[in-house]
Amino acid sequence: MKNIDSITHTRGQSIYLDDIPLIQGTLFGAALGSPLAHGILKGLDLSAAESLPGVVRIFTHKDVTGENQIGGIVPDEPLFADGHVHFCGMPLAFVVAHSDEIAREAVRKIRVEIEPLPVITDPREAQAKGELIVPPRTFQLGDTQSAWKDCAHIFEGRSDTNGQEHLYIETQGAYSVPLENGNFRVYSSTQAPTAVQRAVSKVMGIPMHCLDIEVTRLGGGFGGKEDQANGWAALCALASLHLGQPVKYALSRADDIAMTGKRHPYSADFRIGLGKDGKILAYELTLFQNAGAAADLSPAVLERSLFHCTNSYFIPNVKATAYSCRTHLPPNTAFRGFGGPQGMFVIEAAISLAAEKLGMDTSVLQKKNLIRTGEEFPYGQIAQSEALECWEKAESLYQADALRKEIADFNAANALFKKGMSFQPVCFGISFTKTFMNHARALVHVYTDGSVTITTGAVEMGQGVSTKMVQVAAAMFSIDPAKIRIQATSTWRIANTSPSAASATADLNGKAVLMACTEIVNRLLAVAAAELGVDAALVGLKDGSVWVNGTPSGLGWKQLILAAFTRRVSLSEHAHYATPDIHFDPSKEKGHPFAYHVYGTAITLVTLDCLRGRYTIDAVRVVHDSGASMNPLIDKGQIEGGLVQGIGWMTMEEVLYDDKGKLLTNALSTYKVPDIYSAPGEIAIDFLHTEKDNLAIFRSKAVGEPPLMYGIGAYFALASAIKAFNPSAVLPISAPLTPEKALMGLYSQPLYPDGQQDRPGHSAVTGPMASSTATRSPHE
Ligand code: MTE
Ligand code: HPA
Ligand code: MOS
Repeated sequence: MKNIDSITHTRGQSIYLDDIPLIQGTLFGAALGSPLAHGILKGLDLSAAESLPGVVRIFTHKDVTGENQIGGIVPDEPLFADGHVHFCGMPLAFVVAHSDEIAREAVRKIRVEIEPLPVITDPREAQAKGELIVPPRTFQLGDTQSAWKDCAHIFEGRSDTNGQEHLYIETQGAYSVPLENGNFRVYSSTQAPTAVQRAVSKVMGIPMHCLDIEVTRLGGGFGGKEDQANGWAALCALASLHLGQPVKYALSRADDIAMTGKRHPYSADFRIGLGKDGKILAYELTLFQNAGAAADLSPAVLERSLFHCTNSYFIPNVKATAYSCRTHLPPNTAFRGFGGPQGMFVIEAAISLAAEKLGMDTSVLQKKNLIRTGEEFPYGQIAQSEALECWEKAESLYQADALRKEIADFNAANALFKKGMSFQPVCFGISFTKTFMNHARALVHVYTDGSVTITTGAVEMGQGVSTKMVQVAAAMFSIDPAKIRIQATSTWRIANTSPSAASATADLNGKAVLMACTEIVNRLLAVAAAELGVDAALVGLKDGSVWVNGTPSGLGWKQLILAAFTRRVSLSEHAHYATPDIHFDPSKEKGHPFAYHVYGTAITLVTLDCLRGRYTIDAVRVVHDSGASMNPLIDKGQIEGGLVQGIGWMTMEEVLYDDKGKLLTNALSTYKVPDIYSAPGEIAIDFLHTEKDNLAIFRSKAVGEPPLMYGIGAYFALASAIKAFNPSAVLPISAPLTPEKALMGLYSQPLYPDGQQDRPGHSAVTGPMASSTATRSPHE
């Protein structure tokens, strides 16, 4: 089924926050962000701004009627700076004026006095100074200490992955409209209406039931609006409370990029040990997460990095410790993959380093260590694995051996262009890692003309969840999807929702829709049986009418609904779904946190221009475990989009702050995202279809985030092309691998020609095999 939004999208008729018709008397807000990353707020001179014609009022922390606090997991994030500033862009004041332009001009006229304090931007420095958001976490399986002695080869290294700007097309924003009796409707560009409701309620000091947070759709979220939509909504709502007028604020692109958090940069130290046969026996890992100035979702992101630190591999002895480090950057936040990609990158770097040192093809090591059904993840869950199936299907379908030969031939024949290839397996757990968040509700009404509306807690942000909800109801009622409308997500219709996140939105909300529809169907079947005078066990709904014993009865959907109505049978249902079987004990760091895992394998082919460092991603060919995709068109779109976003993170998107914590890449002229010219020349997607039961809606596995991690393959394909040109290149393991870094890598020299390899970012060869392991590149 086609995406239900496709017509209004292509005609430009879809409604986003900025398209909502304005109510008379609407005022416009703009926030002033701190110009310094860390300091004591000494003074805020509002006089020049206040005297600007058209300015209505300027709000600061003094105007907060409830609590000046928007921290979700940890209450450590003031809405307005009060006394101290902790990051560049931290809101200091909120101007409300008769127009957007006046509000923004007034912001520029506010004079700020801040006494600067030392700034930390590096997570390792923060960790060394004890600046942690939450205590560190350690996941452990087996016993690495005793496993090292059994290892034939041990390698160590450091790896770094940088942040990533969400660049949703629709910037952050909110529009608060006062209603009667102290109620407010807040339109918010949020993935988490309930989180906005909770934050606004706290800041305003009014009960949650006064607040209808309404979301029709987002122009993208990608995790950036899971937690970080709250502040803007709170600013607008607070101002509309004081002024009794509607207040709207849609951030400019520059403000959005500068004031909001991004994907967390991570630095990592790793140590990997292998047996003679290439089996990974032990893996130790320390992760330093750059959380930014406040907790935001960082503790949950940190946890997912640990969950995915062994990616698709089985490693019997693992010890992984992760620190969430407080720095003076804007609080970093959820971003597609939610810490998973950062954890996975390190194990891929470790395996690739081991392969290089052992003179092996990385894919041989990868394949040998793929997790099998029955094997245990470091957090205790037992795998139901499709890892090898995806890998082997990719190998045969895309003729991996022929590709390897093609690349070797090309590289032998060409001096200044080199090709590289990589395999990227992915294994991603589906469920919020916090078990209590895995629930959803749906409200279904059938009207007397047979038309249907559904509302769930799901937020449509381009991922196609609304279409999938309609599909579920259409399948359960067996009616034309055109008879079904999905309504805007609203905290007055559906309460206490989890964010639309963790790729679990369609599963959770879809199951709730399924349950609500099932209840209504059961009532309708009883009505049909009574109307037709037959046994209820014999009736069913099919193709818009009632069937008895396998044949159409002549009783149509619409008549059936009218019959139910006249019999005073309820045509509405509100259902609650909570994922069964999942649990996790954080005191032991063990359990069964995921409903299931999504697997897949991508083969990436690149060509590197060895004179200039420029490169192209020639092709990415994927086998993706979908279970049984309920909408292959939408799922394909998710795979393509996620993949390209992952490639961007790994190759060209470079978030740069200076050492004072000021963002240098605050516009699209300095921050490069993939465009049509840098997208892969070819994306091939094949679904691994399985018949096995799983907890996904209609067995159609979640697809939102896992494909992003196929993009990691681009990094290692490029790294292999660099090594093909210069086998002794010194390439720090540091993503993104921009053309500049590729160029420097191509012409880098070993720092220690004698073969010593203990510089930062590279490997030391230790352990029993140290003397026999070649430190010269195997390609020499
Ligand atoms: N696809 C589009 N077009 N826009 C988005 O903002 N967000 C991603 C992914 N795909 C996103 C997207 C993220 S971060 C998640 S968690 C999932 O969609 C959320 O939706 P789902 O749970 O329905 O997969
Ligand atoms: N994934 C995405 N978002 C989340 C999660 C998660 O596991 N936990 C809390 N928010
Ligand atoms: Mo997605 S990062 O879970 O919003």
